[in-house]
Amino acid sequence: MKALILAGGKGTRLRPITFSMAKQLVPVANKPVIEYGIESIVHAGIRDFGIIVGDTAKEVEGALGDGSRWGARFTYIPQPEPLGLAHAVATARGYLAEDDFIMYLGDNLIKTDVAEFVREFERHRPAAMILLTPVPNPSEFGVAEMEGDRVVRLEEKPKHPKSNLALVGVYLFDRRIHQSIETLKPSWRGEYEITDAIQGLIERGLEVRSHVVRGWWKDTGTVDAMLEANRLLLEDIEPSIQGSVDGSSRIEGRVSLGEGTVVEGSTVRGPVAIGRNCVIRDSYIGPFTAIADNTQVIGTEIENSIVLQDSKLARVPSRIEGSLLGRGVSGSSEGRVPRSLRIVMGDSSSLSLP
Ligand code: G1P
Repeated sequence: MKALILAGGKGTRLRPITFSMAKQLVPVANKPVIEYGIESIVHAGIRDFGIIVGDTAKEVEGALGDGSRWGARFTYIPQPEPLGLAHAVATARGYLAEDDFIMYLGDNLIKTDVAEFVREFERHRPAAMILLTPVPNPSEFGVAEMEGDRVVRLEEKPKHPKSNLALVGVYLFDRRIHQSIETLKPSWRGEYEITDAIQGLIERGLEVRSHVVRGWWKDTGTVDAMLEANRLLLEDIEPSIQGSVDGSSRIEGRVSLGEGTVVEGSTVRGPVAIGRNCVIRDSYIGPFTAIADNTQVIGTEIENSIVLQDSKLARVPSRIEGSLLGRGVSGSSEGRVPRSLRIVMGDSSSLSLP
């Protein structure tokens, strides 16, 4: 089986962070979101990856490399225009040849290991296998209509959804999907929809298996959604202290601290992930916070937030909460500020408080 990872698209819904970063590379719990999918697929024993790239091709290739980091082989496949998921599969037709494949949307995150789905697919050999999850806003997704355990109809972004079960961006296919794609017409949004191609399989009387999964995240475009994904992953973080912690600091709960990071005179209350080469001095880092590499937090309190790499927060006298700070951000203060701050800052921004 091969893997087809979709890493194109512009990520307009995650601005301002995606003005300067591919959406699949946005870190959640200090790791680019796409890497969770790659790891899970490698864990399922798959080594051959086709990676569909668009406008952000350079950045994605630069970040992921040739796959050797995971013992895998990555082949980058440019999609000339973002004409939909089924179009991406058609673009990769030569690479996929007649093989089975797992398709994974690089901006999706599922907590479940995909290995069990791969094994089930290989055991039962349906034409397709899809994952579903209940959502409050099904009109924004592909939606499955069920009769008991059986998928009877799939519809992309329906105005009047027949259920609350959304298609999660992980699909398994055999070669029969290609015939369905060949006959597709663009949808109302001008895209060749994989949802319609799977519906085509159902209409041909072929088996489409499904599973309902929990613990799924997709960039719904809000900072709250990103913070929620961050919380989802930090809950399971492996505690590991590789940096140094001085005698006057306290580390409580599940905390991971990268190499070269120094914690002095501070309290870190997990779950928290702090990357490499950071300085945390005279500060409080509270639960569900992820701080990326090369960041300095001095005399500052922060919790339930994401701070990307190379940032500096110094003497911010109010607690930073529920915030998302881009790369290379600086925030500092010399005097009095309100008691709590909620901030969203894109890359390279700076904030100075009165
Ligand atoms: C795509 C699919 C949709 C699926 C979703 C999952 O939507 O078309 O069926 O539910 O991914 O992330 P899009 O991101 O193109 O709006």
